[in-house]
Amino acid sequence: MNFPTNLKNEPLKKWVEEVAVLCKPDQVEWCNGSEEEYNRMWDIMVANGTAVKLDEKKRPNSYYVRSDPKDVARVEGRTFICSINKDEAGPTNNWMDPMAMKGILNDLFDGSMRGRTMYVIPFSMGPVGSHISHIGVEITDSPYVVANMKIMTRMGAAVLDVLGANDHFVPCLHSVGMPLVDGQKDVPWPCNANKYIVHFPEERTIISYGSGYGGNALLGKKCLALRIASVMGKEEGWLAEHMLVLCVEDPKGRKTYVAAAFPSSCGKTNFAMLVPPKEMKGWKVTTIGDDIAWLKPGKDGRLYAINPEAGFFGVAPGTSMQSNPNSLLAVAKNSVFTNTGYTADGDVWWEGIGYEPTAKVTDWQGHEWTPDSGKVASHANARFTAPAHQCPSIDPDWENPNGVPISAFIFGGRRASVVPLIYESFSWDRGVYLAATVGSEMTAAAAGTIGKVRRDPFAMLPFCGYNMADYFDHWLSFGRTILHPPRIYGVNWFQKDEHGKFVWPGFGENMRVLKWIVERVHGEATALESPLGWIPRYEDLDWNGLDFSKEQYQKATAIHRHEWLQELESQHKEFSEFHTRLPRELTAIHEVLLGTLTRSPEVWQVE
Ligand code: GTP
Ligand code: SPV
Ligand code: MN
Repeated sequence: MNFPTNLKNEPLKKWVEEVAVLCKPDQVEWCNGSEEEYNRMWDIMVANGTAVKLDEKKRPNSYYVRSDPKDVARVEGRTFICSINKDEAGPTNNWMDPMAMKGILNDLFDGSMRGRTMYVIPFSMGPVGSHISHIGVEITDSPYVVANMKIMTRMGAAVLDVLGANDHFVPCLHSVGMPLVDGQKDVPWPCNANKYIVHFPEERTIISYGSGYGGNALLGKKCLALRIASVMGKEEGWLAEHMLVLCVEDPKGRKTYVAAAFPSSCGKTNFAMLVPPKEMKGWKVTTIGDDIAWLKPGKDGRLYAINPEAGFFGVAPGTSMQSNPNSLLAVAKNSVFTNTGYTADGDVWWEGIGYEPTAKVTDWQGHEWTPDSGKVASHANARFTAPAHQCPSIDPDWENPNGVPISAFIFGGRRASVVPLIYESFSWDRGVYLAATVGSEMTAAAAGTIGKVRRDPFAMLPFCGYNMADYFDHWLSFGRTILHPPRIYGVNWFQKDEHGKFVWPGFGENMRVLKWIVERVHGEATALESPLGWIPRYEDLDWNGLDFSKEQYQKATAIHRHEWLQELESQHKEFSEFHTRLPRELTAIHEVLLGTLTRSPEVWQVE
């Protein structure tokens, strides 16, 4: 095999040779991350009918792709954590014996790349060479994956330069699972009905088969940067989280960095790129990351976060100049659009883009679409891939190899009722309890039932690479090892009234809550003690420019005793799954909450 001249890592050479022997591709290509290579991937996809180049004036250097209708989201039911012991994966993960799983995968990968090119993609999660970064190498038979990895990670020759002769890298093997044999013609979106997204945490390896979409196939993202990295973090004393990171600059120029975890498709991208209402003069938000954060204690005892990604793989529907101008501007050029609608004049369109389509639309399945067709033009999990540096709100320190110091954590889910707009936990441990019991209505980001409330602790349910009870324990102990543990907040932007309308205006208006959080962190804002935590009074928030009455606010922050007693029962059910592995602090806090809420008024509300 021909290796890149700057490749010195013998284990990597050996692994790639072994995979080539097993998968039997027509050829092997080492990706160098160049523009020429990127453009060539798109030429291949355009020729194959996978992609369409968008109009050069409307969307310079951008492409439109439709996936197979059966390959549109992460497949949690087919995602496995194959630790040696089942207990290490825990009750919230699918598990299979690693040897048994390898037997299955070996059969599936035998000849799986016949008739295709096998691409080898060296990539860095985090700035190349940062002490917080990690290197992975993805082998794939999908040019779509190569092109997307170029946007989402730092990819190519520079990564091999920093990978020493014996340095560790995370091997990530991917195949769409559709070999081309006996002159079989390719299809626009090759994939396989039989899917496996598999992690071997002890070996720190990843194998993915049968899907070409998002987190199933771009293995640096959820598989490496969350599932495998969470295991590394537990062993090495850091955190890999499903979090956005943003910076709030106040009118005096003081910067406060905040990390927030919301489940998939619950507003991380929106919050990360928040545009404050114009009446809140001098307040500014900049973006460090929109999906994943790696956090490490610094020498000064503070917690520093980096965004391991280089791009955004964001939900398209609902993105407009109104809801998220920074996101819409980020995708103006050099971007990929998958499963949105396509307009006859060479642009894309989706529900909630904020304007009528400029020409006739074909939907994400390639059918003609009209506004009265009764169907959506864009799949609910249609996504764009865009370089992070194109985002107008990107923070000047977003690539700082040392990260940015975090002052607050925010956790929230999509709850039509029960959970108030905002509360601050009384302590680190109470905050861990708050995060461990986050519930959220399921969204289109994962294949399955939409709308059903499920527990999604720390927004990590689909992404924790080990036993969730041990993960809680890691968080609890973590707070004791850092000098200034960030304060922990709970939010819920998604309460609905009796007519099904959102109670809270959300989006840019979330700045009002964020401002209070920042002021709390600096000891400058007051609050009331509620049964759950500290809740701002009406006058503690800045209402300049928003018509939101005290009564509306009281409703948005009310705590209903009977609802919460039910909620606690459901949290108890969640916890009981972990048996004796559950940290005792959480059981104790549950008892405290039961006592407090039993004695609280039927409706607790701010004065
Ligand atoms: P992943 O990329 O899947 O991890 O998700 P994400 O958390 O980045 O999701 P994103 O920000 O793209 O969330 C999109 C959904 O959240 C859309 O349905 C938005 O309308 C909704 N959303 C975001 N912010 C708000 C808000 O403040 N209020 C309301 N009601 N909806 C919001
Ligand atoms: C999520 O589902 O949380 C995502 C999208 O961020 S994907 O990368 O497809 O997992
Ligand atoms: Mn995500």
